[in-house]
Amino acid sequence: MRAMKKIVILISGRGSNMDAILRAARDEKWPAQVAAVISNRADAPGLAVAQAHGIPAIVVASVSYPEREAFDAELQRTIDSFSPDLVVLAGFMRILTAGFVAHYAGRMLNVHPSLLPSFTGLATHRRALETGVKIHGATVHFVTAELDHGPIVAQAAVSVLPDDDEQTLSARVLEQEHIIYPHAIRCFVEGRLSVRDGIVRIADAR
Ligand code: GAR
Repeated sequence: MRAMKKIVILISGRGSNMDAILRAARDEKWPAQVAAVISNRADAPGLAVAQAHGIPAIVVASVSYPEREAFDAELQRTIDSFSPDLVVLAGFMRILTAGFVAHYAGRMLNVHPSLLPSFTGLATHRRALETGVKIHGATVHFVTAELDHGPIVAQAAVSVLPDDDEQTLSARVLEQEHIIYPHAIRCFVEGRLSVRDGIVRIADAR
């Protein structure tokens, strides 16, 4: 029997990716346990979703910390009180300090709503529509110091349709996020991910 891995999920809002991860972990019986969900916003709707799953839902309010370093230090302290093997950013809308990122090197994943390295940053769907790309999508990657860079674990592409607006396009991308993010996390907790020279390899399931 493999040891259960511990996961802490960070959110800022709706928490639909978090919900997809919690469902997959339960339904697919991952060798992992989500120890806590932490939000930097007290009003994040995802907090109630976590509680409905029976997961401790904690607020570390970023508004209370004008200094980025002080917030990240408190967040790190809270995360580390659960001794996680993996930290999962699921719509966590914060720029992270270099020290925080370094502390979780190789054990922090993010989902980003674009096909990286295209459209880093915010408003990815609007920028995809404005640019006229015909394919858009989502990326799961390891978090490194440079925003929305870092070794790519999984991607999914969707077609951009002639009548798309930000809402229809983001909904189609989000559907893919809910598939690739749980899959990537499952590969991590099963010990199947390795990174060499910035390239992620995924070992076959045993
Ligand atoms: C998701 O689309 C995620 O990719 C995006 O925020 C949304 C959160 O939705 N993340 C970023 O833009 C990070 N830069 P959710 O709270 O329903 O999972």
